[in-house]
Amino acid sequence: MRGWQLVKRPDGMIAESDFSLVTTDKPALNDGEVYVRNTWLTVDPAMRALMGKAEEGYAPPLPLNAPLPGRAVGQVVESRSPDLKPGDKVFHTLGWRDESVGPAKSFSKLPVEADLSDDLWLGLMGMAGATAYFGLIDVTQPKAGETLFVSAAAGSIGTTVVQLGKILGLKVIASAGGPEKCDYVRKLGADEVIDYKSPGSMIDKLKKAAPKGIDIYFDNVGGDHLDAALANARPFARFSECGMIQTYNYKDARQPVPLGHLMRIIASRISIIGFTIYDYEHRLDESRRAMAQWIREGKLKPCIDVTNGIETVPRAFVGLFTGRNVGKTLIKL
Ligand SMILES: NC(=O)c1ccc[n+]([C@@H]2O[C@H](COP(=O)([O-])OP(=O)(O)OC[C@H]3O[C@@H](n4cnc5c(N)ncnc54)[C@H](OP(=O)(O)O)[C@@H]3O)[C@@H](O)[C@H]2O)c1
Repeated sequence: MRGWQLVKRPDGMIAESDFSLVTTDKPALNDGEVYVRNTWLTVDPAMRALMGKAEEGYAPPLPLNAPLPGRAVGQVVESRSPDLKPGDKVFHTLGWRDESVGPAKSFSKLPVEADLSDDLWLGLMGMAGATAYFGLIDVTQPKAGETLFVSAAAGSIGTTVVQLGKILGLKVIASAGGPEKCDYVRKLGADEVIDYKSPGSMIDKLKKAAPKGIDIYFDNVGGDHLDAALANARPFARFSECGMIQTYNYKDARQPVPLGHLMRIIASRISIIGFTIYDYEHRLDESRRAMAQWIREGKLKPCIDVTNGIETVPRAFVGLFTGRNVGKTLIKL
């Protein structure tokens, strides 16, 4: 069984050399355990926050030289549990590895939706889709005709939020890095797209893209994108604080972030609401029902970025911070 471990705490920008692929023997199965061969893995930026020394993430720091957790889809090969049988397709979070052994309760059977491919349960039908769905719909309570700004719009959450924004009748302003990604987001339906890597300030670029201001900000980036949103917020704007990837690779997780427009929170009566998808786990069925319907109606398109083989996991992970990916990053095994 091959699995990736963190062997060095990153000091600033995460590097592929911070990880090692370790081979172990498959343990004999105990009663109640199953053996699963994984078919799809994914990587998520939030794991970076758990790799440093600080307690900035949603959970305690990940230990060194131990199997890394991570979301995966696989198929049961062997079972000593009455709950799962060989051939069952399952979802789990046991990690960046090609095979997993564990108690049956650590694995959830994939719902039977024959027309939805297995990888979708790590994307639109999984936690990523639910993050976009609840982060936009529940947190910001959007009304048709409002103006939404979403950052990191060519990524997994971003491509979903752009499309949901159009489904809900919003005007969508999106930002992404570089002309190719901006074209991609425009084709997904965004009304205006900002290349944040082009010369000039984010504040001015957002003002040009949304001259009347924004009602909703879906924040994946933080930093200067958040400041631009504050500077351009209309009265009673709502900010959904999903992620702040701009700061995840800071050497010091508590390094101050310059925000010149904090007073706008008062002047514009802005609501800034942080959330994690774990707050919504009990409502996953709701997002899945909506996502499945929009996928079937052709209104929501899965955007995926696939690399092949367990060897590519650290490259795919580091790529989240260098902007290598377009859409949900997946690893096919
Ligand atoms: N609250 C929650 O429960 C929750 C759940 C899932 C994800 N998240 C957060 O949601 C955000 C998006 O996650 P994702 O999984 O969808 O990742 P993703 O957007 O697919 O990948 C990350 C993207 O972020 C952009 N990026 C990286 N460094 C940047 C920087 N310094 N400044 C601006 N953009 C940068 C890159 O796109 P460009 O090439 O355009 O720069 C990159 O492709 C992350 O902040 C993540 O932590 C939160």
